[in-house]
Parts: sequence; structure tokens; C-alpha cells
Amino acid sequence: MASHFCLLLIFTFFTLVFPSNGSSLSSSKLLPRFPRYTFQNREARIQQFRGDRNEYRYETKFFSQQLDHFSFADLPKFSQRYLINSDHWLGASALGPIFLYCGNEGDIEWFATNSGFIWDIAPKFGALLVFPEHRYYGESMPYGSREEAYKNATTLSYLTTEQALADFAVFVTDLKRNLSAEACPVVLFGGSYGGMLAAWMRLKYPHIAIGALASSAPILQFEDVVPPETFYDIASNDFKRESSSCFNTIKDSWDAIIAEGQKENGLLQLTKTFHFCRVLNSTDDLSDWLDSAYSYLAMVDYPYPADFMMPLPGHPIREVCRKIDGAGSNASILDRIYAGISVYYNYTGNVDCFKLDDDPHGLDGWNWQACTEMVMPMSSNQENSMFPGYGFNYSSYKEECWNTFRVNPRPKWVTTEFGGHDIATTLKSFGSNIIFSNGLLDPWSGGSVLKNLSDTIVALVTKEGHITWIYDLQHQKTRNGLWTSGKPRYG
Ligand SMILES: *[C@@H]1O[C@H](CO)[C@@H](O)[C@H](O)[C@H]1NC(C)=O
Ligand SMILES: *[C@@H]1O[C@H](CO)[C@@H](O)[C@H](O)[C@H]1NC(C)=O
Ligand SMILES: *[C@@H]1O[C@H](CO)[C@@H](O)[C@H](O)[C@H]1NC(C)=O
Ligand SMILES: *[C@@H]1O[C@H](CO)[C@@H](O)[C@H](O)[C@H]1NC(C)=O
Ligand SMILES: *[C@@H]1O[C@H](CO)[C@@H](O)[C@H](O)[C@H]1NC(C)=O
Ligand SMILES: *[C@@H]1O[C@H](CO)[C@@H](O)[C@H](O)[C@H]1NC(C)=O
Ligand SMILES: *[C@@H]1O[C@H](CO)[C@@H](O)[C@H](O)[C@H]1NC(C)=O
Repeated sequence: MASHFCLLLIFTFFTLVFPSNGSSLSSSKLLPRFPRYTFQNREARIQQFRGDRNEYRYETKFFSQQLDHFSFADLPKFSQRYLINSDHWLGASALGPIFLYCGNEGDIEWFATNSGFIWDIAPKFGALLVFPEHRYYGESMPYGSREEAYKNATTLSYLTTEQALADFAVFVTDLKRNLSAEACPVVLFGGSYGGMLAAWMRLKYPHIAIGALASSAPILQFEDVVPPETFYDIASNDFKRESSSCFNTIKDSWDAIIAEGQKENGLLQLTKTFHFCRVLNSTDDLSDWLDSAYSYLAMVDYPYPADFMMPLPGHPIREVCRKIDGAGSNASILDRIYAGISVYYNYTGNVDCFKLDDDPHGLDGWNWQACTEMVMPMSSNQENSMFPGYGFNYSSYKEECWNTFRVNPRPKWVTTEFGGHDIATTLKSFGSNIIFSNGLLDPWSGGSVLKNLSDTIVALVTKEGHITWIYDLQHQKTRNGLWTSGKPRYG
């Protein structure tokens, strides 16, 4: 299933905001945390998904792309990878639809093999499935290699959402010509950042795509369109509704961690308590690691066992809280936290010691995007949130981006380019055929569209639902007339 995203925290001690080395984006607090592929044994995992669902069969192809769609400079082209499956396609003459999954910030095979819904509905609609990869991720690297592509701000400057959308538009137009399928309708799909791409592409290229399903897509999490606290408030509530003592233990743990860290050999002791492979450099690293786990848990708190980012039991938050609350009466706060977090990081019981690098920072494509266009302000308010208190500080965000990439963010660009302020008016007047699907327990749902805005701008909201990543929709689809009526609602 699914999962995702980010957090920002900052203790009330401002000194903790950035680690003193200051040379990399080591503070995950600053950046939106979307689900993405972080496993070492990528091949094994993809094989596992394909084995579970033997219908995940596709051909892998490459398409020669413009590096810059918006200038006529003589730049080298790059190879964009795409996956294609035509098993169920009705064909061009029958106007079989083309379902295009908008590749997110990661390896496209991982997204394709986690998108059960799109595979499930392909036979019903007689659809051709295509999964173009997002530039600068997976194998779709400009300049021939990841190393060259990620060299500096100049080589990275073509990693933008606009370029990625133009890639999809150019790609699908060319594909249709090759298949003599110019008249076939294209429907866009995507989850999280990919869902944002799907919605935005429908708005920018209405002549290319007839509609979009934007799953768990926080297109409003920019500037001041929604309050910056929504993410942490919702994530915190997901814990509180399971157990208020669990919520309180987590809330109290941040100070306990700092206090322990300040003792002589405190970092060593924390390293032992939490079974890390290497000695902690700072309590910040530990807090980030915990914060990350709680955030992802809130995104993937499915009622059934799932294995999207981590193998987890059904109702994983309930299980975490059971461990936190159920530790012996003499257990310290930190022992409780360790017991709880092990449900997330060590559910299989196969982990010898924990590594901190499961969510690496630094020269990473998503961090670049967060430092340029994808500025999603996040705060954690100490009243409602169990996370460390933190107020979004654009100056320090900017500073960190400059230190890491030598680039200045443009926090207002997304709303200028795609809209966001008074989105209801805009979408009602100028948009059509977009489905926004969200589960209200998903911390990102606060930044998405949760109301029906017109007959064809539709919000599917699952009150007790989590990230409606495409896979999850599969579990809901029988309750969902839109997808079971047997006829696509085109046009
Ligand atoms: C970035 O790297 C490229 C390729 O090596 C080089 O030509 C360019 O001058 C560098 N730009 C900056 C700003 O360092
Ligand atoms: C369309 O066909 C041309 C010529 O064979 C090929 O170079 C191109 O990659 C094809 N386009 C796609 C999207 O596969
Ligand atoms: C601690 O810092 C050193 C030097 O910066 C680094 O090599 C090491 O990976 C860090 N350890 C952890 C656990 O992050
Ligand atoms: C808890 O601590 C008290 C006092 O140190 C001790 O008497 C008691 O046996 C401990 N209980 C457990 C279950 O370890
Ligand atoms: C993971 O769980 C197993 C089984 O409970 C335990 O032996 C191991 O120490 C745990 N690993 C860590 C890093 O806590
Ligand atoms: C925000 O960050 C800047 C730069 O790091 C710092 O000077 C300033 O004091 C911070 N503001 C607040 C309110 O913390
Ligand atoms: C929006 O309308 C659809 C029917 O078109 C309905 O299924 C759905 O529940 C509505 N969403 C909301 C948030 O009311």
C-alpha cells in the first residue's frame, strides 16, 4: 500500500534546527516526505510484487526526450524509460483508452508494481497501460548517468515539474502516432506527487488527456493555502484516536531524548537502547528517525497487513501503541518508544541493528525539487501535535537549500504556475474530469481537494481511510460506483 511524507520539526531549542555541519539537507524536518523507494534489495522486492500479482507484466522501452522543452538550446537528449502493457487493449480502431501513470519521484517499476488498481481496471476498460518514468529518477537520467545529472545546480536545472509534464505530453503524443491511436482517449493516474502531476497535467494539457485520477495528491500544500500544521495535526490524531496515553508518551519522548543525550555517554546509551548499528552523532538524528516512522505510519495505517514501504501488520498504529502502552510498568519512556518503533522498523524480526540512512538526504532528486518548486511549508504546533514543536522558517529553509544545492527556492511558483488560491473557483470554471481521492486519516489529505466542485471535479473521500494510493483504491472499488458502472465517464 502506500505511504508517504514529511515532517518538519524543530524543538523549541532553535539551536537544534540545523545540524552544525550545515553542509547537507540533514534535517528531514524541512522536506515533504512522500513515500518512495528506499530499500537496498530493490530487485528482490520488485520480483516479490510481481510474484504476488502475476499480472504485473510489462515491456520496458526507452524514448528519446528533449532535455529542455522550453528553449531551443542545443542540448543533449536523454533516454526516458517507460513500461507498457497491451494485454487488454481494445486497440486503436476500437478507441481503446490509454491509461498513463504519471511517474513519481522514484523508480517507475516500483510504482508500477504497487499500483494494483490500474492493473485491475485495465481489462474492464480495455486499456493500454503506460508508465513513463519521471526524469532524473530510476533509469531516466539526463547526461548519461546519475552522477553527471546530479553534478550541480546547472545540470539539475532541468529537473522540474513543468519539464516532467512536457515529457509525458510529448511521449504520449509520439506513442499514439506510432500506434496510429491518435483518436484514443488518454486518462491520467497518479498517487501523491504523481497524483499532483496527474491533476496538473489534465489542467495544462486538456487536449492530450481527457481526465485524471489524482490519488492522495496534496496540491494545496503550498504557500498559505492550507494551514502548515495540517500534516502533523492529522498524523498526531491518528495516534490519539488509538490511545491517548500512547500519544502522550510520544509527545513526552522528545524531551526525554534530549535529556538523555546531554548526559555523559548519553548518545552511546541512546544508541544501545535503540539498537543502532553505529553510534548516534546527535539526538536530532534519532528524533528525525522516529518522526519519519510516525509520519509514514500515519500514511499507511491500513486495516490489513501491507508491504508497501515496510512489511507491517494490519492497523500498525494500534500495534505500535499496544507496545508503547504495554511495556512493563517499570519501563522508561525510551524503552516504550523503542518497543513501539520496532513494529515499524523491525516487524519481521530480521533486523540485527538499525541504520539511520533509510531515508537518505543530500543530493537527492526530491530534495532538489523541494528546494526549487516544491516548497510545502510544514509546522508542528505543540498543542495538537505529538511531534516536536516547530514553526516553518522560510529563511532557514532557504539557507539550507543554498548550502546544499546553491539554489534559491521559489515558494510562490507552484501556485503561479498551477493555481491553488481559491482553487474551487478555478477548477469549477476551467477544470473538468478530475477525481481527487483521499482518506481522511492520511496526513496529506489536509492539502488535497475534499469537496465535489462540479459534476466532473469529484472528491472521493474515505472517512476512515488512509493514503488512497492506487493500490488501496482497489479495496474500495466495489463501493465506488464511478469505477464499477462498467463505462468510463469520458467527456
Ligand atoms: C556544472 O557542471 C557542468 C558539467 O561538468 C559544468 O560545465 C558547469 O560549469 C558546472 N556549473 C556550475 C555552476 O558549477
Ligand atoms: C515511435 O517510433 C519511433 C521510430 O521507431 C521511435 O524512435 C520512438 O521511440 C517511438 N516512440 C515511442 C514513444 O516509443
Ligand atoms: C556521524 O558523522 C560521521 C561524520 O560526519 C558520519 O560519517 C557518520 O555516518 C555519522 N553517523 C551516523 C550514525 O549518522
Ligand atoms: C518495578 O520496580 C520496583 C522498584 O524498583 C520493583 O520493586 C519491582 O519489582 C519492579 N517491577 C517489575 C515488574 O520489574
Ligand atoms: C528485531 O527483532 C528481533 C526479534 O524480536 C530481535 O531479536 C532483534 O534484536 C530486533 N532488532 C532490533 C534492531 O531491535
Ligand atoms: C529563522 O531562521 C533564520 C536563519 O536561520 C534565523 O536567523 C531566525 O532567527 C529564524 N527565525 C525564527 C523565528 O526562528
Ligand atoms: C462527490 O460525488 C460523488 C458522486 O459523483 C459521490 O460518490 C461522492 O461521495 C461525493 N463526494 C463528496 C465529498 O461528497
